[in-house]
Amino acid sequence: MNRDKGCGEITESDIGKKLTLCGWVYRRRDHGGLIFIDLRDRSGIFQIVFSPDVSGDAHEKAHALRSEFVLSVSGEIRKRPEGTENPNMITGQIEMYVEKIDILNESSPLPFTIEDAAEASESLRLRYRYLDLRRPEMQRNLIIRHRVTKIIRDYLDDKGFLEIETPMLTKSTPEGARDYLVPSRLNPGCFYALPQSPQIFKQILMVSGLEKYFQITKCFRDEDLRADRQPEFTQIDLEMSFVDVNDVISLIEGMTYKLFKESLGVEIEIPFKRLGYRESMERFGNDKPDMRFGLELKEMADLAEKGSFKVFLDAIKSGGRIKAINGKGMALLSRKEIDMLAETAISYGAKGLAWIKVKNGFESPITKFFPEDILSQMAQRLEAEDGDLMLFVADKENIVFDVLSRMRLDIGKKLNLIKSGFEFVWITDFPLLEWNEDEGRYEAMHHPFTSPMDDDIKKLDSLNISEMQAPGSELSRLRAKAYDIVLNGYEIGGGSIRIHRRDVQKKMFEMLGISDEEARAKFGFLLDALEYGAPPHGGIALGLDRLVMIMVGASSIRDVIAFPKTQKAFCLMSGTPSTVDSKQLRELYIKLNLPDV
Ligand code: AMO
Ligand code: AMP
Repeated sequence: MNRDKGCGEITESDIGKKLTLCGWVYRRRDHGGLIFIDLRDRSGIFQIVFSPDVSGDAHEKAHALRSEFVLSVSGEIRKRPEGTENPNMITGQIEMYVEKIDILNESSPLPFTIEDAAEASESLRLRYRYLDLRRPEMQRNLIIRHRVTKIIRDYLDDKGFLEIETPMLTKSTPEGARDYLVPSRLNPGCFYALPQSPQIFKQILMVSGLEKYFQITKCFRDEDLRADRQPEFTQIDLEMSFVDVNDVISLIEGMTYKLFKESLGVEIEIPFKRLGYRESMERFGNDKPDMRFGLELKEMADLAEKGSFKVFLDAIKSGGRIKAINGKGMALLSRKEIDMLAETAISYGAKGLAWIKVKNGFESPITKFFPEDILSQMAQRLEAEDGDLMLFVADKENIVFDVLSRMRLDIGKKLNLIKSGFEFVWITDFPLLEWNEDEGRYEAMHHPFTSPMDDDIKKLDSLNISEMQAPGSELSRLRAKAYDIVLNGYEIGGGSIRIHRRDVQKKMFEMLGISDEEARAKFGFLLDALEYGAPPHGGIALGLDRLVMIMVGASSIRDVIAFPKTQKAFCLMSGTPSTVDSKQLRELYIKLNLPDV
């Protein structure tokens, strides 16, 4: 179609020119004599004016225009008369007087206007996703997402990486979530799994000597969904040979720097901070700390044990922990408001929330259990001043960490302590293994192919692994060559140096209580490959959706995915998943066995 420019591309240098534009009717104001339309296309919004003095025919047709009709209009670009400029529009100084209009298509009345779509319920927006995606904000998100993948592809290409596709119909990889399964018609009773990540294939590409691989690819995980989780999501996945931790880290820092500079014009600071896993847990209560504000967790057990508060003493006696945070300026909260804070803590899993106000001394039902100088030392450690509120949780370590890390975020948000901007941090020195209480065995904290630290590999030979299958054993102290990248409190990526030696991999399975047969059945093909000269290798995967979500300032990854699914993994637009007809099931030898509802 002969369209001269995008609506958002017209500038004052076009004044006096006759142009043709195409787009959708965004807003419409009928002033009797004059009809004003804001015409919208992907590039922006432009005001067009219908006047009977310019074209009686066009003005007549303009009466019939409704929201989201599709138009082609031609006319002269003019400067707006003084006093009618719109400073909120990039093209607010100029307008077109329409001489000719073609209505290319009409639109049914809308379930919500595009302008106010952000206020419509999310389920309505998802049902009419094609309309929701007309919103300039959503288009901007997808445009930035496109820029991000383009910049990453160019960067990695520059560094010698090859983009190689791996199968979507594959064998399940042990990433820890439930698989999405696909029945095989040609192999009755057998199933493919959609990949949770290309982990095993990318390692095999290293065995094949491809040296530097990357892929921007879909991954599928059947897990409980949240604002930052989708059942299908996209990874920027890469793997390199002959590298150690620092090589992967600096590659990603260089990539991220270029990415933020070229897509947002933001210069981020590299290298990123690094925080050991243990330190992150102690200071922030989790391994994805939001580093944009303080309010750190402080140790309190050594002080608490000098008092006589039974809750605290019992926690210490049973091997638990006591930590506290400082609610800055929160001493003015009423008793009722503090009770509500405690209820929140309890909903997060705490048994209670002890508190002490710093207010001309100390004020709390529990001050009586502590000598004055201990209270002062508590305040000092928390840097609590007059007007602050000290908040304590005593419990098993994981509960103390989890509850206080969530309280820290809640309070940080409430008190507006969180700076704008982007704060990256690498979390390193992860434990290799994690005790799974339910199953009574160790699990890989990252995945079973993650290499132990060099010193720990040496230690492995001297360990009697079968005697160490208990929480807190020597196995829990082994550390992994794994790293996570965290941005503003979100884990945006994770990776590791892998085990490339067969003997170490065997030891790893032994520690995980995976028998030879089980290992063989699950990933025999990787084990075989490791027998044939596997080079040292490692890599990482970044969650593209999460990264873009943070870059554009969205609060859900659904806002940066064109066709996302709901919390129940449902696509409201296409009505997926859906039942299939019995013929399809018969061909797959599948008989349904549904629960009664
Ligand atoms: P991991 O499981 O940590 O590592 O995944 C890497 C990154 O992918 C993102 N992510 C998700 N994003 C949206 N929805 C989800 N359901 C979801 N799950 C994960 C996160 C996460 O940091 N194979 C390893 C990588 C490696 O070792 O190289 C892996 O998949 O941002
Ligand atoms: P109680 O003795 O149970 O009445 O608790 C006294 C105070 O200690 C209340 O403010 C409780 O919220 C708080 N509390 C109870 N259990 C804990 C705990 N495990 N950690 C921190 N505070 C607690």
